[in-house]
Amino acid sequence: MKTDTAPGTMTGEEMIALSKKHTLFEWSAQGLVDPLPVARAKGIYFWTPDGQRFIDFNSQLMCVNIGHGDQRVVRAIQEQAARLPYVSPFMVSEPRARLGRKLAELCPGDIDVFFFTNGGAEANENAVKLARWVTGRHKILARYRSYHGGTAGAITLTGDPRRWAAEPGIPGVVHVLDPYHGVERGWDSVEQSLTMLEEVIQLEGPNTIAAFILEPVTGTNGVLVPPDGYLAGVRELCTKYGILMICDEVMSGFGRTGEWFAVDHWSVVPDILTMAKGLTSAYVQLGAVGMRRGIADQFKDKVFYGGLTYNSHPLACAAALATIQVYEDDRLIDNARTLGTVMAGLLADLERRHPCVGAVRSIGLFGIVELVRDRRTREPLAPFNGTSAEMAAVGQFFRQEGLYTIVRWNYFFTNPPLCITEEQLREAFAIIDRALEITDRAAR
Ligand SMILES: Cc1ncc(COP(=O)(O)O)c(C=O)c1O
Repeated sequence: MKTDTAPGTMTGEEMIALSKKHTLFEWSAQGLVDPLPVARAKGIYFWTPDGQRFIDFNSQLMCVNIGHGDQRVVRAIQEQAARLPYVSPFMVSEPRARLGRKLAELCPGDIDVFFFTNGGAEANENAVKLARWVTGRHKILARYRSYHGGTAGAITLTGDPRRWAAEPGIPGVVHVLDPYHGVERGWDSVEQSLTMLEEVIQLEGPNTIAAFILEPVTGTNGVLVPPDGYLAGVRELCTKYGILMICDEVMSGFGRTGEWFAVDHWSVVPDILTMAKGLTSAYVQLGAVGMRRGIADQFKDKVFYGGLTYNSHPLACAAALATIQVYEDDRLIDNARTLGTVMAGLLADLERRHPCVGAVRSIGLFGIVELVRDRRTREPLAPFNGTSAEMAAVGQFFRQEGLYTIVRWNYFFTNPPLCITEEQLREAFAIIDRALEITDRAAR
């Protein structure tokens, strides 16, 4: 094997072999990983070193919202790197100043103060710290169908099975059910769900609960779009009991749902809003905790006990500013809304024509298809936290046909970059249509 070739000249096989030998892959038994080597990417596409083209139908990890290789963002990063790549967070830089002001403009209500982190998990860690200091209470409510990050606190907040291996985790986290109970059982009404939540608050002791953290539209755990009234009801309960509402918009923010933030669909203003991913479209890593003015004011004379070497990193802040400019110049939030309507139609069409489709859901360009073995019993095509030969075959077909998306348990996602065109969307759905012929054969 060559070891000293110039950058950009490795073969896919070399990239895979060295990566497997010297680096760890996340959430995986290392012997089972089968990574795609990627050489370059542009718009909604990426290419392997030997030239196979993929449609990126998941925006990587639901983060490259503006699409790949946008030169406006690349140039902003290059220019900032040449001018001032880093200063201590005790100092200030122009990108930090400009980004704080811009986010205050975009965020709902009076959320206009921000603490910058390296990503989503750290944003949630700091949100929890803030909530505990501000309320003087220690418990945090979180939902079972959720993912909040891989660090100690964030993985404890996480409801999905990725939490199990990290237990016992941090103290004081209490999980509650959300309105969705899986494809077999479906949805509770808003009233049932809020009644259950209020019962948990009573049983835990309202005066012990600092915050309720939730993804307003749940991401990896199923693109769960809450029924109208749910988020407003959660907001009311939080206000009633003095509990801070933390909305984790790490995945749902920055246009994914067809609004800047998912909460905007229901005009709900949380006390704390966390973000990452689409903030820079992942060109450089950056997260942020946004908070209402009243929360930030409490730290005028109290110390904010939080810090990171890379807090307010100028390179990341410059990338975020350029990315936000792209959303605005190219009207990508509008495109997500318009093409979201087209995608909802394409999803409904799959559900109508394929017996294996048990449920489809979407909001903007945030979508999911849940597969079942039997339309009548709605038995999922793979069990909770498991897989099946049929789901594996769907994944294999996508890969062979050049469509990249995440296939998880009994579902797969439809989350393209927001710059996608209708023609490209239809091209991807044509591949999905053919994949579902395989799973139709398994459906009764
Ligand atoms: C809703 C949500 N919160 C938090 C995170 C964690 O973000 P990060 O991986 O940047 O730490 C993720 C990542 O997928 C997420 O989807």
